[in-house]
Amino acid sequence: MAQREENIVLFPFMAQGHIIPFLALALHIEQSKNYTVTLVNTPLNIKKLRSSLPPNSTINLLEIPFSSSDYGLPPNTENTDALPYYQVIQLVEASVSLKPSFKKLIENLTEQLGNPPLCILADIFFGWTASVAKELNVFHAIFSGAGGFGLACYHSLWMNLPHRYVDSDLFYLPDFAEASSIHVSQLAVTIKEADGTDPWSIFHQKKNLPEWVKSDGILFNTVEEFDHVGLLYFRRKLGRPVWPIGPVLLSTKRQARAGKEDGISSELCLEWLNTKPLNSVLYVSFGSMNTISASQMMQLAMGLEASGKNFIWVVRPPIGFDLNSEFKANEWLPEGFEERIKGSKRGLLVHNWAPQVDILSHKSVSTFLSHCGWNSVLEALSQGVLIIGWPMAAEQFFNVKLLEEELGVCVELARGKSCEIRHEDIVEKIELVMNETKKGYEMRRRACEVMEMIKNAMKDEEGFKGSSVKAMDDFFSAALSMRKKTKKEQNIVA
Ligand SMILES: *[C@@H]1O[C@H](CO)[C@@H](O)[C@H](O)[C@H]1NC(C)=O
Ligand SMILES: *[C@@H]1O[C@H](CO)[C@@H](O)[C@H](O)[C@H]1NC(C)=O
Ligand SMILES: *[C@@H]1O[C@H](CO)[C@@H](O)[C@H](O)[C@H]1NC(C)=O
Ligand SMILES: *[C@@H]1O[C@H](CO)[C@@H](O)[C@H](O)[C@H]1NC(C)=O
Repeated sequence: MAQREENIVLFPFMAQGHIIPFLALALHIEQSKNYTVTLVNTPLNIKKLRSSLPPNSTINLLEIPFSSSDYGLPPNTENTDALPYYQVIQLVEASVSLKPSFKKLIENLTEQLGNPPLCILADIFFGWTASVAKELNVFHAIFSGAGGFGLACYHSLWMNLPHRYVDSDLFYLPDFAEASSIHVSQLAVTIKEADGTDPWSIFHQKKNLPEWVKSDGILFNTVEEFDHVGLLYFRRKLGRPVWPIGPVLLSTKRQARAGKEDGISSELCLEWLNTKPLNSVLYVSFGSMNTISASQMMQLAMGLEASGKNFIWVVRPPIGFDLNSEFKANEWLPEGFEERIKGSKRGLLVHNWAPQVDILSHKSVSTFLSHCGWNSVLEALSQGVLIIGWPMAAEQFFNVKLLEEELGVCVELARGKSCEIRHEDIVEKIELVMNETKKGYEMRRRACEVMEMIKNAMKDEEGFKGSSVKAMDDFFSAALSMRKKTKKEQNIVA
């Protein structure tokens, strides 16, 4: 295999939603730079990563030892995907104890290479890696798979818990006025219930977020041109460089290998889409980690049917049922629903997993009803697809806020997994976006503008480098200049 310069260490938190953006970044660096990428994780995650890499990949996979049963977790549990929600915090807390092993791993790698790695890029949950990097004199940055605006709200909420100090349901973020008002319904349960003494607060306020100032900067999977408000928050807050280098995304083929088994082939989906007119299809998916309640599912089915639109809907068993169990259409959907939409060829129900990138880039698809996880958002925006937002967790609520209030490419339909939702309201939102309304027209215009921003940001031509390409170059220059400085100091000492 061809020799490559310098080693870049990537260390994601042990959750599919965190590992996938790191995998996308690893493949992006491999493609665009002459660096060796080393992805670090616990043994079972490494095993899974190995099967999702192309056979000719130069990416190194390195195991960090971890035994889940030492932390009160079920044996062989190394990924939040395998845990019920209330146990996720246990894996988060256990990950902090990887510190000595991670230090040893970098020392081992340094000995093996004869040189320390050029830089360490670590997860937003791994603030503690910054002090390890400092001790070993290695350049360090956080890599966020979340967007700037969403993560700024999330960071500010955890550091300040502002909803604890007001009587109203509406409140402001003390250090992020640009976000305007937040409503308690936009808070994930863990934040809403946090009081500073609970395990999540202790993790974020004591062990994770304050450590970020020891890092040399943050890389974001986003684009400066539409996410500068959130990026400004971190520039101001940390006084460190922020490098927006996105969108860095996986192809459908890589997603399939990194995710669950296929629910439907790409060919079948595209064949179906090919029979539909331009911009006539609504795509519905809540991401690989989420599902909705049984009553919400019933209302959504009724709404989709009443809207008269074409749709592809990725269905999973509702909340309370095993996500991997069989989908019982005759129990969870209106009577005869599946037969009717099949007969009229108006809808396609897909179980578990769909080739999302292929669907969103098809010209028949105009709108995406989404939980607004950042990867899904980037995939939609890259294709100029409009969004109907139904955020479910974490910073998704603030992604919707950015998309609706700042970018004008989204309308919010519902919030959270327990909200009441009526099929009439679903129809109304679908028609607002997909019919020839003034609002729909304006949203499409904005979506085209955002798509152009993204294309420009990723452009790498002679005489022109887009903002994301330039940010990636700037990041590596910063790491290389620290390397040169360290070498000079060593020479002086010698
Ligand atoms: C990549 O780096 C290696 C090792 O330093 C070097 O021999 C090789 O010429 C470089 N390749 C390119 C395409 O720059
Ligand atoms: C691996 O092969 C694919 C397809 O031939 C090619 O596009 C890609 O650049 C190769 N990757 C590396 C790291 O050589
Ligand atoms: C470091 O190297 C030693 C010796 O090869 C090995 O026993 C140990 O497991 C390694 N530690 C880590 C964290 O990789
Ligand atoms: C929206 O378009 C559909 C046809 O796709 C039509 O049946 C419906 O009446 C329209 N709704 C409004 C509010 O114009």
